[in-house]
Amino acid sequence: MDKEITISEGLPDRIVPLRDEYGGTEEMGRFPILDKIQTDTEGAVSGTTRAKGDEILGDIVEMARAEGNDKVRLWNMLVTYVNQSGYRKPKERKTEILSIGCGDGKDARALDEFFGEGNFGSPSDNINYTGVDVDVNAIEKAIERNKRPDFSAQVTKYKLPENYQFICGDATDLAGLKGVPLKADVVMIRHQQIYNNEEVWRKIFQNALERVNEDGIIIITSFSDVEHEMMIKAINTLNCELLVNERNKFAMVTNMSPKVSIDRNVLILKKIKSSNPV
Ligand SMILES: C[S@@+](CC[C@H](N)C(=O)[O-])C[C@H]1O[C@@H](n2cnc3c(N)ncnc32)[C@H](O)[C@@H]1O
Repeated sequence: MDKEITISEGLPDRIVPLRDEYGGTEEMGRFPILDKIQTDTEGAVSGTTRAKGDEILGDIVEMARAEGNDKVRLWNMLVTYVNQSGYRKPKERKTEILSIGCGDGKDARALDEFFGEGNFGSPSDNINYTGVDVDVNAIEKAIERNKRPDFSAQVTKYKLPENYQFICGDATDLAGLKGVPLKADVVMIRHQQIYNNEEVWRKIFQNALERVNEDGIIIITSFSDVEHEMMIKAINTLNCELLVNERNKFAMVTNMSPKVSIDRNVLILKKIKSSNPV
């Protein structure tokens, strides 16, 4: 049975329906349309290349739909589990969002819309978003993906909104990276990769805890149960409190394995408040 959900003040509580081609939950199985689309280990979706123009166009439309659907699922995950965590957004200032290991920045719009004005489809100035990733190609893609049209000049240009930034660098040394906010209200670590290197990711979790505000939250998702368990073990050695630890009902299955899905598990935690605040 679902746990009772506490709706946190200032946050949206509206689940957005999935588009019908992809609709439903993970338990309903893989959707036929995804057979034509490859989803790589990092959740990136790419279409098959075929000779005929209309088929390629069809693939592009499918990719766009798949990507839109990824955003809907992420939004629904936030609606459900962030509200369950009891997090409240700051009232008199912008919400500072830090996405660590942001990859190609697919999480930015859902986080912006959810923690900003709370309207699906409407980005806002009410947040600052910083994405950090060690992979320069991913950062370049993230910048391209998140550019918006600027209609102020005669020729429309696309540029990154002023409240977004993407920084290429190693998150095990956040202090060495210029421009990363010293404090964040929401730290997102989507699809952590502890399986690759336990020490690196434990250090990343530790750095996230150092950057998050006392009333803030860290959201961590995992592709697989094995990686999730490894992550929890590492997290339990740190000074934090687990608020939510759930199998995400909005996860999306992949073509790789039934044991791997997009945002399969979600953990939300906060730091333990120091008794002697300075
Ligand atoms: C599985 S991918 C997830 C990407 C993105 N969050 C998503 O869900 O689509 C993990 C990301 O962590 C990044 N990463 C790995 N080690 C890192 C480090 N030391 N500092 C910053 N990013 C790192 C990788 O480059 C990769 O983009």
